Amino acid sequence: MSAAAVDVLVRPLVAADLAALDRMERTLFGVSAWSRQMLADELVGPGRTYVGAELPGGSLVGYAGLWFDGRDAQVMTVATDPGHQGQGIGRRMLTTLLDHARAVGAESVLLEVRVDNAPAIHLYESLGFRRLGRRRGYYQPENVDAWTMQLPLPRPARTAQEAP
Ligand SMILES: CC(C)(COP(=O)(O)OP(=O)(O)OC[C@H]1O[C@@H](n2cnc3c(N)ncnc32)[C@H](O)[C@@H]1OP(=O)(O)O)[C@@H](O)C(=O)NCCC(=O)NCCS
Repeated sequence: MSAAAVDVLVRPLVAADLAALDRMERTLFGVSAWSRQMLADELVGPGRTYVGAELPGGSLVGYAGLWFDGRDAQVMTVATDPGHQGQGIGRRMLTTLLDHARAVGAESVLLEVRVDNAPAIHLYESLGFRRLGRRRGYYQPENVDAWTMQLPLPRPARTAQEAP
């Protein structure tokens, strides 16, 4: 369990969130940060679902996104403002996205994560993701490898009435 769960609202992101997103993205991802235009394109991209974590005062302190391609889902990003990490926000956002993946019938959820990103790997493994393989030099320009991870989502068993 995270030390101090904080009261946040996990809600869909909208274009009005772009300034806050852009700021957090550059703080958290440095040279690998998506540009503001890339973030804007992502929010409205096909099959994309983006959520943010909002404090009671209205500040955005986290964001996460998923792409469903009609069969599998891919975690596009997950990020929590440095001042609010370790409070259960990343887990809340990811759980919301995994619920969405189940609801749309995704067969599995995939993601890539830097091999040196221990907090993120811990979070993913605690949610049931397992390592599939290692992608050499996936993160550029830093030239850092990625783990590809997968969470299979078994389909709910059909009832006798639903069976053909
Ligand atoms: C990965 C990240 C999103 C986790 O967000 P978070 O809001 O801190 O996550 P949570 O508070 O829900 O904690 C999730 C788990 O990560 C662990 N964790 C969080 N911060 C940690 C840290 N600094 N060191 C070690 N573990 C940490 C916690 O132990 C927690 O596990 P627990 O619930 O069993 O205690 C956050 O660290 C982050 O934004 N990192 C920078 C961006 C990034 O790397 N994103 C992932 C890209 S693949």
